[in-house]
Amino acid sequence: MTKPIIHVDNVHKSYLMGKEAVPALRGVSIEIQPGEFVCLMGPSGSGKTTLLNIIGGLDEPSRGHLTIEDENVVALSENKLARLRLEKLGFVFQNYNLLANFTAQENVEAPMVLKKTSRRERQQRSQELLERVGLGDRMHHYPSELSGGQQQRVAIARALANDPPILIADEMTGDLDSETGFAIMRLVKQLNEDGMTIVFVTHDPRMSEFATRVVHMQDGRILESAPV
Ligand SMILES: Nc1ncnc2c1ncn2[C@@H]1O[C@H](COP(=O)(O)OP(=O)(O)OP(=O)(O)O)[C@@H](O)[C@H]1O
Ligand SMILES: [Mg+2]
Repeated sequence: MTKPIIHVDNVHKSYLMGKEAVPALRGVSIEIQPGEFVCLMGPSGSGKTTLLNIIGGLDEPSRGHLTIEDENVVALSENKLARLRLEKLGFVFQNYNLLANFTAQENVEAPMVLKKTSRRERQQRSQELLERVGLGDRMHHYPSELSGGQQQRVAIARALANDPPILIADEMTGDLDSETGFAIMRLVKQLNEDGMTIVFVTHDPRMSEFATRVVHMQDGRILESAPV
């Protein structure tokens, strides 16, 4: 067996609401191998987003360990964590999170600006990525001038900007009609076949069929983890 690219080890997470600690994760462990296509499912409030945010370094565990490609994420300084996120992880969110005052191309370039990629390379790569997601003719449109599915494809192109080994997606097809949702999943499947490790959340059993492993969560725990 190869080394896991993501290793979550007995992670707990509680949120403080006033004086009360609300448990969101109660001892989650999971190993994800390079090239896996993992789907997280489970009822609302079961901890799926919390787990994704922790894997993505957007939130910290209250207890437990997380390694990404052998780096101990919890122990990293702010700077090193920002670097790891920029280089190793791409994020896609349900509500796209595009910058409204930036064109599609400028949105895709944003993570490359953070990485100090040259202007010429940024322009070339953002164009290639937008063509890859089928938006070569929408590069100069603003998010408000794009449909939901088109905005989500811009968000995927943006997540790929720095060519990360891992893509993390939280209900990326939740707000889309099923035809558009399937088109997005086929695109992500292609990325997986090209070698990218994918971890995504969905409520839709039809979307979970794209995965190679479905992990079920309930009450902040992993219930079962089955190959598809
Ligand atoms: N920032 C927060 N502050 C307080 N409690 C939170 C916070 N984020 C999540 N929680 C709580 O943690 C638990 C897990 O939430 P989480 O968002 O991970 O669920 P989920 O499985 O993604 O649900 P959904 O399917 O509705 O998106 C819930 O009980 C929620 O109320
Ligand atoms: Mg959620």
